[in-house]
Amino acid sequence: MAEDVRESISLPSKKRVLICVTGSVATVKLGQLVGELLLSNKVEVQVVATENSTHFFKTEEIPVKVYRDKDEWQGWKKMRDPVLHIELRKWADVMVIAPLDANTMAKISTGICDNLLTCIVRAWDMKKPLIFCPAMNTCMWDHPLTNTHVSVLCNLGYIYVPPIAKTLACGDTGVGAMADVRCIVETVLQSLVEKC
Ligand SMILES: Cc1cc2nc3c(=O)[nH]c(=O)nc-3n(C[C@H](O)[C@H](O)[C@H](O)COP(=O)(O)O)c2cc1C
Repeated sequence: MAEDVRESISLPSKKRVLICVTGSVATVKLGQLVGELLLSNKVEVQVVATENSTHFFKTEEIPVKVYRDKDEWQGWKKMRDPVLHIELRKWADVMVIAPLDANTMAKISTGICDNLLTCIVRAWDMKKPLIFCPAMNTCMWDHPLTNTHVSVLCNLGYIYVPPIAKTLACGDTGVGAMADVRCIVETVLQSLVEKC
């Protein structure tokens, strides 16, 4: 299915996708997500990782640049130096947070911006698409706060890719697993077509 979608979508020029990962176990799929997007040959990709997300992948196995919180401050020493979260916000045509864990979802739904990822979200150009793909344990998913936070993000116009039901990494069965990577790739490419 993803191959069909990749071939059928026509973009006038190479678009730029900023993939953001958080401290959900679904971040183990980062390599697959980057790989599938690059295979489309229609996009450039860069990654922003929260510190907790880095437990779930090896940077050297990701074939594109991965930014972390320390890069924000290593690149800024004095006035007029570039500010990384602003530069990445300008660079990207679309931002996709996959997986979006409960913690970062709570933060961005209330405007908190205390790391590189959440600063990009807070500075985001609302004319550009922002896609979010929650992933969490079923009990976290069923908590009433989750629905409140998802609603806030949807009302802001962000594109929602809902989680799916399966047996999770922790052994529980139910809704909470990140959507299929091919579904996320399809949503990303489609969002770029619609913005062309
Ligand atoms: C092994 C492991 C797996 C986790 N998986 C998830 C998850 O799938 N979803 C979630 O919301 N939190 C998950 N957490 C909890 C988050 O990592 C934790 O809330 C963390 O503070 C998130 O930080 P971040 O949002 O800055 O990345 C997991 C924690 C551990 C130790």
